[in-house]
Amino acid sequence: MFSFVIFSEEPEFAAEIEKQIAASGQARAAAVISDPDQLLGALKSERPDGLFVDLGHAPHIVLDLLETLPVRLPLTLVSGPHTESSLILRAMHLGVKHFFPDELSEAELNSVLVDLVRSASPDLADSEGRVVSVMGTKGGVGATVLACQLAASLQEVGGRVALVDLNYPLGDVALHFDVDPTYTLADLARAEEELDATYLRTILKGHESGVQILAAPTLMEDAESIRSLHVERVLPILRSEFDWVIVDVSRSWNEASVQALTLSDQVLLVSLFDVPTLNHARQHKKLLEGLALNGLRTRMVGNRHSKGDAVTVSDFKRVLGSEPDALIPNDYATTAESVNQGRPIGQMARGSAIHKAYRQLAFDVYAWCGVDAPQLKPAQSIAGRFRGVFSRRS
Ligand SMILES: Nc1ncnc2c1ncn2[C@@H]1O[C@H](COP(=O)(O)OP(=O)(O)O)[C@@H](O)[C@H]1O
Ligand SMILES: [Mg+2]
Repeated sequence: MFSFVIFSEEPEFAAEIEKQIAASGQARAAAVISDPDQLLGALKSERPDGLFVDLGHAPHIVLDLLETLPVRLPLTLVSGPHTESSLILRAMHLGVKHFFPDELSEAELNSVLVDLVRSASPDLADSEGRVVSVMGTKGGVGATVLACQLAASLQEVGGRVALVDLNYPLGDVALHFDVDPTYTLADLARAEEELDATYLRTILKGHESGVQILAAPTLMEDAESIRSLHVERVLPILRSEFDWVIVDVSRSWNEASVQALTLSDQVLLVSLFDVPTLNHARQHKKLLEGLALNGLRTRMVGNRHSKGDAVTVSDFKRVLGSEPDALIPNDYATTAESVNQGRPIGQMARGSAIHKAYRQLAFDVYAWCGVDAPQLKPAQSIAGRFRGVFSRRS
């Protein structure tokens, strides 16, 4: 994923930029620097794709610094006062790609990042993302949790992920990520002709994990305006803009969900290890066969698995014809904590068995979709480095 070194002499501003860059889902921060003397070292050690520089209270001095650095600058963005044209001219001279005002808006940053990342890796622009729908076989089996955690894990391993909530008017994807979306699917339904990638980006809500959320409307009249045609128009645009489009479909087979299912590369059917749920799973499997979604496009996930379950993996196989394609362990405490905090498990219980299972599921999904899995670099302790920078300042 596109990486940035962020420089601002004000640690809070730097942290805010770091958060916004992460929430854009387009890029990540490799290092955050508040001490000018450390900038050169960070550029040399991180070799970032991009550099974000806050010109701060002494803009000309910061520009002097950039001018005299003995390295080629990566793609550079700056923020500073827009009142002085000599500053803008100097920045342009340095090859700066975009000059943000001091009070920079999330929307402007997002659209600049999208363009920057696209232009830096043209092959990204041509590649089509995959659509993965997640469906519960019964209420409360953990489908929404799974859709959210899968989205977070795919983003964590370097994918760019959009997450669509089709459980209107009672969707809770936004809640699981603790975001308060300004817009929902209903706004898309109203957009008609204007519906394109640029418009879509303004409707999506970015979570700090980088996952971009298309929330479900909560009003009945808004919910009723959503038709299969809207899903038919939105999913291809999302597919062209993201590596992964995860859809939390409704179990009720509403027309929008059926449309999403038919456009999916993979359907993950989530079941628990109990008899009634397995029976429902069998019925859902039959219905999916009716949509020609049988065979390799449907995968069974056995959720809340534990060794002591009365119903075992072999019982699962007996009822459904094959063993689950993936297992997620039962861990109510961690799951509930993650939902309550609105933070993915990867952020609050990194390395736990359940986090590893969701991460494994992300890699399985790569394999099932025939996409090469990312080669991960050794884990970087970005958080540790932030702490180092801040504690010295405070
Ligand atoms: N792996 C798991 N272990 C323990 N509890 C889980 C797990 N996955 C989900 N849950 C719990 O199951 C409940 C229902 O989850 P939810 O995703 O809302 O279900 P659904 O969308 O299928 O109706 C939540 O209370 C959640 O915390
Ligand atoms: Mg749900």
